[in-house]
Amino acid sequence: MDVPNHVAIIMDGNGRWAQKQGLKRSAGHLEGSKTLEKIAIHAKKMGVKVLSVYAFSTDNFKRDKEEVDYLMDLIIKYFNTKFDKLAKNGIKVVVSGRRNNIREDVKQAIETVEEKTKDNKEAILNICFNYGGQEEIIDGAIRLAQDLNKGLKIDNFKREDFYKYLYHDLPPIDLLIRTGGEYRVSNFMLYQMSYSEFYFTNTYFPDFDKSEFNKAIFTFQNRDRRFGGINDKKSS
Ligand code: FPP
Repeated sequence: MDVPNHVAIIMDGNGRWAQKQGLKRSAGHLEGSKTLEKIAIHAKKMGVKVLSVYAFSTDNFKRDKEEVDYLMDLIIKYFNTKFDKLAKNGIKVVVSGRRNNIREDVKQAIETVEEKTKDNKEAILNICFNYGGQEEIIDGAIRLAQDLNKGLKIDNFKREDFYKYLYHDLPPIDLLIRTGGEYRVSNFMLYQMSYSEFYFTNTYFPDFDKSEFNKAIFTFQNRDRRFGGINDKKSS
């Protein structure tokens, strides 16, 4: 059975997970970050080549300062410590999102983890941070316009050609998972998910363990992907 090449996860439900047990929302983010580490290693072992996760959206800045600061500190702490384990597992970490309006220490931590893992070849963990899908398309369109000004010819420009104008030149998403019981895409990787299969679960992200991940993969393997065409075997 085919394992999806690129899996993306909207890691939702950290806050509700914490509140359900009378803890502060930040405890949910901490637990979610531990889950992320386990899932990233498990996904690689299953043969997934690229795992993209939504860690912080451009719109998450609307949250209380306390929660935003907590998430920034958590990301630094993780990038500086826990990501060594990902590196040892041959995982290259890349970060997608805008860098212009984030704290200098966060920017430093991102650059360090990208540099430290850049030669790893087994799998990619793409962390979407200060990220918006429409913003990624706008930023790509601006870079394309700059290339046009420099003389690029686009008569034959195809949809595949735009990937290199996105934050990272990653393959299209095969399977999009959203935890936490909501049914929306929340401005996540809009260009890359054009033919993704969607999998929604009520499980809050901190509880999304290996067996939940396997369930999503199994569901994907039983989907009939046609990419706008017709599946000859099934329709004849
Ligand atoms: C959505 O849950 C989750 C986030 C906004 C943050 C996700 C971050 C992590 C899982 C930690 C990632 C850590 C690293 C190191 C990259 P929510 O807070 O919206 O939950 P709710 O819908 O229950 O309120």
